[in-house]
Amino acid sequence: MFKVHPVASDRLPQLLRAMPKAELHIHIEGSLEPEMIFALAQRNGVALPYASVEALRAAYAFTDLQSFLDIYYAGASVLLKEQDFYDMAWAYFEKAKADNVVRAELFFDPQTHTARGVSMETVITGLRRACTDAGTKLGISADLILCFLRHLSEDDAFATLEQALPFRDRFIGVGLDSSEVGHPPEKFTRVFGRCRELGLHLVAHAGEEGPPAYIWSALDLLKVQRIDHGVQSARDPALMARLAKERIPLTVCPLSNQKLCVFPDLKDHNLRQLLDAGLCVTINSDDPAYFGGYINDNFLQTFAALHLSTQDAWTLAHNSLQASFAPESEQRRWVHALKETFERFVEHD
Ligand code: ADE
Ligand code: ZN
Repeated sequence: MFKVHPVASDRLPQLLRAMPKAELHIHIEGSLEPEMIFALAQRNGVALPYASVEALRAAYAFTDLQSFLDIYYAGASVLLKEQDFYDMAWAYFEKAKADNVVRAELFFDPQTHTARGVSMETVITGLRRACTDAGTKLGISADLILCFLRHLSEDDAFATLEQALPFRDRFIGVGLDSSEVGHPPEKFTRVFGRCRELGLHLVAHAGEEGPPAYIWSALDLLKVQRIDHGVQSARDPALMARLAKERIPLTVCPLSNQKLCVFPDLKDHNLRQLLDAGLCVTINSDDPAYFGGYINDNFLQTFAALHLSTQDAWTLAHNSLQASFAPESEQRRWVHALKETFERFVEHD
């Protein structure tokens, strides 16, 4: 482990903001700010069941995952044209740039859109164009991960995969999201097997609200490379040991967990326990427009609530770069930049 010199606690927030990092768990539809939802609704002539931006924001009082998803899918209904998908992703990339994100792997939910008559081509073309521009104009390396909605059937997931295959070169992997409890990973074993044959990267939400058993089956049956959330693994010591030994990355989203009442108080979040057990933990934003903060807000608030250290900052940023699906040569370049950032802060301390 790279030993870092601690920086003064009043300079730690600045270091957290400055350090290069990868965002590995962001649902791009979850970056739609209320202002953009209203602007797109007007542009596309879509009626919204809320009178104003303020009324919509006031509805963001969630009690669990499902209470959030109902509003999240309603928000996504304003997306119709290729330019809408571009604009949404571009707005995210501008925020990511300000947060010193050097690598972003964006989840998208095509079934939410194709069910409304929007074509797969429209969705993927708009998002991919924004990813390309993020690279050329902002220096952010970005790729797409197509998520299957787990409350729908495996047949529906297969049909979605078929629709996406003409655009196989425009996304790097598949994931599994939406309502977790009652929809275990094993429901999708066959479609994940097919995606594996196609050479796609594999990830899945597991252990956000659901039991440790869902994390075991995501690993053993879906053969995923990362677990999204995974915070419920702390309830199973054997699982913790395996995750640590195999260095399976967990893409943890602290503000999401707080807002969806998984850990109603951030001070009670188990991220420090996961880190101390040697797991490959990363910090991410999930649905930043709904949960009150982008990736740096997640870092800053979690560090304040859990009294995390400069060493933890290094570990979390380093984990994120290494857990990304970017080529190793790129990862090495970012790790070098990370070292330089830490050295700059120590020198001036
Ligand atoms: N889709 C968007 N955000 C999600 C989350 N936190 N869990 C499951 N599905 C989601
Ligand atoms: Zn998520």
